Amino acid sequence: MCGIIGYTGTAPAVDILMQGLATLEYRGYDSAGVAVVTGNGNPRVRVVKRAGKLSNLREILDGTWLEGRTGVGHTRWATHGEPSDRNSHPHQDSDGDLAVIHNGIFENFAELKSELIADGHEFASDTDTEVIAHLIGRHSDGLARGPEALADAVRAALRRVEGAFAVAVVDRRSPDTIVASRREAPLVLGHLDGASLLSSDVAGLIRYTRDVEALLDDQVAILTPQGITITDLDGNRSEGHRYTVDWDVDVAEKQGYEHFMLKEIHEQPAALRETLLGRTRDGRIALDEQRLDDDDFCHLDKVYVVACGTSFHAGMVAKYALEHWARVPVEVEIASEFRYRDPILTPHTVVVAISQSGETADTLAAAAHARAQRAKVVAISNVVGSSLAREADAVLYTRAGPEIAVASTKAFTTQILALELLALFLAQLRRAMFPEEWQDQLQRMAALPELMEQVFGQESAIRQLAATVAHASYVMFVGRQVGLPIALEGALKLKEISYLHAEGFPAGEMKHGPIALIEQGGPVVALATAGHVRGKIVSNIQEVKARGATVIAIATEGDTEIKAHADHVIYVPEVHELLYPMLTVVPLQLLAYFIATELGCDVDQPRNLAKTVTVE
Ligand code: AGP
Repeated sequence: MCGIIGYTGTAPAVDILMQGLATLEYRGYDSAGVAVVTGNGNPRVRVVKRAGKLSNLREILDGTWLEGRTGVGHTRWATHGEPSDRNSHPHQDSDGDLAVIHNGIFENFAELKSELIADGHEFASDTDTEVIAHLIGRHSDGLARGPEALADAVRAALRRVEGAFAVAVVDRRSPDTIVASRREAPLVLGHLDGASLLSSDVAGLIRYTRDVEALLDDQVAILTPQGITITDLDGNRSEGHRYTVDWDVDVAEKQGYEHFMLKEIHEQPAALRETLLGRTRDGRIALDEQRLDDDDFCHLDKVYVVACGTSFHAGMVAKYALEHWARVPVEVEIASEFRYRDPILTPHTVVVAISQSGETADTLAAAAHARAQRAKVVAISNVVGSSLAREADAVLYTRAGPEIAVASTKAFTTQILALELLALFLAQLRRAMFPEEWQDQLQRMAALPELMEQVFGQESAIRQLAATVAHASYVMFVGRQVGLPIALEGALKLKEISYLHAEGFPAGEMKHGPIALIEQGGPVVALATAGHVRGKIVSNIQEVKARGATVIAIATEGDTEIKAHADHVIYVPEVHELLYPMLTVVPLQLLAYFIATELGCDVDQPRNLAKTVTVE
């Protein structure tokens, strides 16, 4: 998620823009830039932008006098086009008369870009954002008429684009105006006397005003020092959602959540939507970057999946999807073990390396070993241009946005979704599924964000349940088939943020040893959703119940029979068996979070842990 800030008023804009971008830094970014309308008599749009941290931009600005009172600023989290000066925002039209900043993804940017190039437009970057600058610039002859003309040009351009966006535009011919719009990406407006502001996040406004207005989807805002006008995409007057902010800056960065982890758990439905955006081109599933030709995938004879921690658990889910849909043999390996066991790798082996950060030393080393053995490496990463993404033969980005909490949540569920998309991509290439089969799965995936939202309806019940478990001496998690990786992930979430002893087991293994650990009242969490192994799980629940365990079952909505076996039941909507992991993990993330807060732990920065483990 990129950071957006805009100001028009009576004060020097660049100071306010840089202050706002500094407030948004927590969101994570890889480059930053500002555009300011300077020069009273003959206004110009001055753009200064740099890859890297805000300090790089500030260094340039300290030596560059930008005296304008209207401008926009942006911190970029790359989705299209590697992090670099040229791909940083703002982006301009051919004549440099206007500048645009953008958060989100224009799904149809490639076809729009081809159309513009055919019209003689030249592009300076690899981004989807620059396309919108040229689309608006097409109307430049009329833009001299001022703010309404600029708003008309922005509305015309936005009617052409598909996908999620929050955009803000400045133009030298309307020197004290900003035009902004949004669709499925946040944009908040700030009202104050003699000035108007906008930001992708309330945190960017609070220092100046608490009188804010959330812009709604497909609304267009025209900001001037005199105030803000809002219309729909057809130009009809409209209103956003106006309210007074009662948060302080620290809380606002978490958008009202107490911790980044809880915010990121709740961001998962939106993150899943981003993961799915633009994943089919010409009716086929497409990877983000592919330096392989289809034959490499058609003739693959084996897949290894390598990762660490939570990413490893996502890889375990991928095994089921790759084997069931793409019909390829899969081995899932802990990255730190992979290269030391001298695995058999050939040019027909594909190694899928999963890493949220794309910088985990063990995973990078495993991928390097695979490449040295001439295997093909496919990266699943959340960071565009990360070391893993740069060195892979093909990449699928999860697009979860910056994940700040050490405990991975939205990166995990988007990894599973990306991996299942990869499985469908291979299935279609290898003709292992009929088109209507993988298209049916894509439709089921598209329904997941809304189904996941339903799970949050049980959040208060989960919080109450957490209070009864928080002081247990151990917590066990058991699952079968795709429930097993979620049992392991639930245990990892709990142990890493609450420091409680928590362990996941294959449910069928309990009687081979772990059941000796069961104490009277000891909590056991069982993944018991509908499917071909549910009956076996119920038997395992009966085994542990017979020895005094307190059982918390994660079950499918409508399964009332499970209540005869479990002490507590948390329900998730019914989905295809291979899609359950993205829903069943959410109650376990919430359970871990509420136990950790009950115990007063540092949820976002747990002891002994780092967000990215860059050492072996
Ligand atoms: C997950 O909650 C942990 N923070 C940790 O296991 C993490 O998943 C692991 O270090 C791998 O990180 P990566 O995905 O960035 O490679």
